[in-house]
Amino acid sequence: MRANTMRQDIDAYRDPVRYAHEMEHIFKRLPLALALSIELAEPQTYRAMTVIGMPVLITRGMDGVARAFINACRHRGAPVCAPGSGKTKQFVCPYHTWVYDHTGALTAVYDEAKFGDLDKASLGLTELPCAEKSGFIWVALTPGARFDIDDWLGDFADELDTIELENWYLFEQRDLPGPGWKVCWDGYLEAYHHNSLHGRTVGKYTIGNLMLHDTYGPHQRIVFGRRSLRELNGVAEVDWQPDEHIRLIHSIFPNSSVSAVLNGSCLVSQVFPGPTLETTITRQSVLTAKKLETAEEIVAAELFSATVLQAVVEEDYNMGFKIQAGLASGGNDAFLYGRNEPAVQHYHRQVAKFVAASD
Ligand code: FES
Ligand SMILES: [Fe+2]
Repeated sequence: MRANTMRQDIDAYRDPVRYAHEMEHIFKRLPLALALSIELAEPQTYRAMTVIGMPVLITRGMDGVARAFINACRHRGAPVCAPGSGKTKQFVCPYHTWVYDHTGALTAVYDEAKFGDLDKASLGLTELPCAEKSGFIWVALTPGARFDIDDWLGDFADELDTIELENWYLFEQRDLPGPGWKVCWDGYLEAYHHNSLHGRTVGKYTIGNLMLHDTYGPHQRIVFGRRSLRELNGVAEVDWQPDEHIRLIHSIFPNSSVSAVLNGSCLVSQVFPGPTLETTITRQSVLTAKKLETAEEIVAAELFSATVLQAVVEEDYNMGFKIQAGLASGGNDAFLYGRNEPAVQHYHRQVAKFVAASD
């Protein structure tokens, strides 16, 4: 019988060779939920970002199709689009003005006659495997790698689809520096710390150290009980409205979390490992279920946004940076995951599985 607690060698958190291996076999090979579909809502929109050191450009063409490319000009490698998102008719390389369209095709070369021989048709931006499903644009960071998004998500797609992410509205978005990938991500997978660390913020609304946990291959659905759950005591089960009393988290392997919260607010967190194992950048997207119209609705969205920002920066990551700083201290040769932290256990087993499978 497997022990119900799990011991994780500290090297999983601090060995740079292991980290490089995990980046190669997990983050560079598997489909990542890189952008929300609503971020590129219209034709000719784009998002440019660096992921695991790779410059990526995601576009939506006039045909409505989302595509992904390495954001490097085929002349001499300059990024053809600055980091950020927006709408543009074409991508003009700032170095020598080669021009690309949303399908990645090279459409114009400055002073082409003088430049000399070249085959424009073979000099489109290097494409990355890309698919759109369940409100996300999924990209694998290895050109030529293939993935089937239906296989990758399996039954989890039906779960994700219950949120209807593509129908939400983007309210605010920001990039937050955080501690190392695993220190950071562990905090997204358990409610054990909610009363203690988040007692004055998001923890006020949930029952600490209680969760329901389901796995879908590497992905996970986590359900927290809201404090109001106790009101169901004495209410006949047929009369329950469970949605009002839970908080639902969809945790997409390896680095995205969708926390659809009641009252029409949702937080999407994408944690991107940094160039070294000590750092991450978290893209936090705050969504609202409906287009905000009244002052009250805007105030409520601002309050939600400020609360999750505070909980993550001042509480989770503040703690995470301290843990990260002490990893080399020798205080621990292993970390422990309790039986009350099943999602953390599952996550780390999956990391080990994907690395082992690719050896
Ligand atoms: S590097 Fe882009 S045009 Fe020269
Ligand atoms: Fe937390």
